[in-house]
Amino acid sequence: AKVAVLISGRGSNMQALVEHADDAYEIVVVASDRPSAPGLAWAIQHGLPTFALSPKGIGKPVFEAALDGALREAGAEWIALAGYMRLLSDEFVAKWHGRIVNIHPSLLPKYKGLDTHARAIAAGDTVGGCSVHVVTEELDAGEVLGQREVAIESDDTAETLAARVLEAEHQLYPAVLKEFVRR
Ligand code: GRF
Repeated sequence: AKVAVLISGRGSNMQALVEHADDAYEIVVVASDRPSAPGLAWAIQHGLPTFALSPKGIGKPVFEAALDGALREAGAEWIALAGYMRLLSDEFVAKWHGRIVNIHPSLLPKYKGLDTHARAIAAGDTVGGCSVHVVTEELDAGEVLGQREVAIESDDTAETLAARVLEAEHQLYPAVLKEFVRR
């Protein structure tokens, strides 16, 4: 299966997806809405096809049309969001209906949106984790495909918890993607 990965920043989940690629899926393009994203430099160094374009100044419809064109040009059949920080329009999501997945650093349906770890700690939760879900028009609300739990220790900060959850993300995402593209 041919997968495009969309990033905005560090790209550690993208790296995990690249490193675990096998017969089940291949990464055909790494795309970023931030041309300065560190993950993009990593992808270029590793010889992956990349696409970078900032929506600033051109507007979302033009940006998304270019993105869509680049993904289709690369032969992508599926899209994996990996730290992609921009909301995709309903029109874009509809075009790729059921073919976009995302990794989110909480046990959905808890803590949709940002600052998930700080919110889990503030709530006194003893278990946190991450989820891979199908992307729909509603933020972080599509079908959950897989989750991994991570214990929250009493001395955890948002940063220490984020680091442990991130390791779980790197294991969960490739495994779930492999199952998902077999559907
Ligand atoms: C991850 O925690 C992911 O769950 C969230 O954004 C972060 C991206 O990190 N959506 P990276 O860019 O994959 O390193």
